[in-house]
Amino acid sequence: MSLLSPKEGWYDTKVSKDEKMWMVIALILCLAMFVWMILWHVYGKQNPSSITYRTTTTEFAKLSEAYIKRNLVGMDNGVPVVRPEPNSDVFLLAEMWRFSPAMILIKDQSYNFHISSKDLVHGFSLQPVNMNFQIYPGYDYVLKFTPTETGEFKIVCNEFCGIGHHTMIGKIIVIEKDEDLKLYGYENMKTKPDPIIEESDDKPLSEEQMVTLGEQLYALKGCIGCHSTDGSVLLAPSWKGLYGKTEDIKEGGKKSTVTVDDAYIKESILEPQKKITIGFESTMMPPTPMSDKEIAQITAFIKSLKN
Ligand code: CUA
Repeated sequence: MSLLSPKEGWYDTKVSKDEKMWMVIALILCLAMFVWMILWHVYGKQNPSSITYRTTTTEFAKLSEAYIKRNLVGMDNGVPVVRPEPNSDVFLLAEMWRFSPAMILIKDQSYNFHISSKDLVHGFSLQPVNMNFQIYPGYDYVLKFTPTETGEFKIVCNEFCGIGHHTMIGKIIVIEKDEDLKLYGYENMKTKPDPIIEESDDKPLSEEQMVTLGEQLYALKGCIGCHSTDGSVLLAPSWKGLYGKTEDIKEGGKKSTVTVDDAYIKESILEPQKKITIGFESTMMPPTPMSDKEIAQITAFIKSLKN
């Protein structure tokens, strides 16, 4: 309800001339922008043709993890680097607060990108090309992608997604030949991904293979963000020399000590808030669902990091 009621009969009074003029201008502007939206698809880079499928965050995370394992050629600051085959499906996962994996693509070759989010809405802004769209959890955004220029491209998140939003930057390296990798500090990347380690009933995994798989999980599941492997303290205890160590912890407000063994590692992964190492009370580790096999692999990796 407005403070004053309008004058009697206001509805029937004629619209004045200048008001009409502004209405016509606004209408023309609306139509021009509508036409431009369609033209932008043809002449611009903002509305690329894409297909979107319904997916779930767990399903997509699983697909992208399997994909990274198949194509992993190295690591870049804790982010796995992949080198996909041309014309293959490439998975890019946005999560708080990174784009994973980083990738090496070949100029003028096509790739089928699948893009989705693990948690909330993120933005995909390819720089310096300035190609933009939104990434929604639960949707697999499929895009045919053919890089036409070589160089290092950044994927910047342009949708505010929380405290680490500004650090959420992905990387795409486009090369013509292997020597170009040197330009981007990627000369130590393998040229071909390692053969996949697969378990079969008659041949259990060796300790060494368990450690390799554990190291991959360490990167894939994002443990790397808070736990170092060289003894330096990030947001959480380092994994170096952790296995077998006695830690001071707090459980339900009470102080006690615990020896880091298989059972304690498993509990810390599945119920991280139950026993908190003293000194790290303010770090909230998210529960990280993992299978028993994966937990065994992570444990093998932690065990291998001796002092
Ligand atoms: Cu993701 Cu901002």
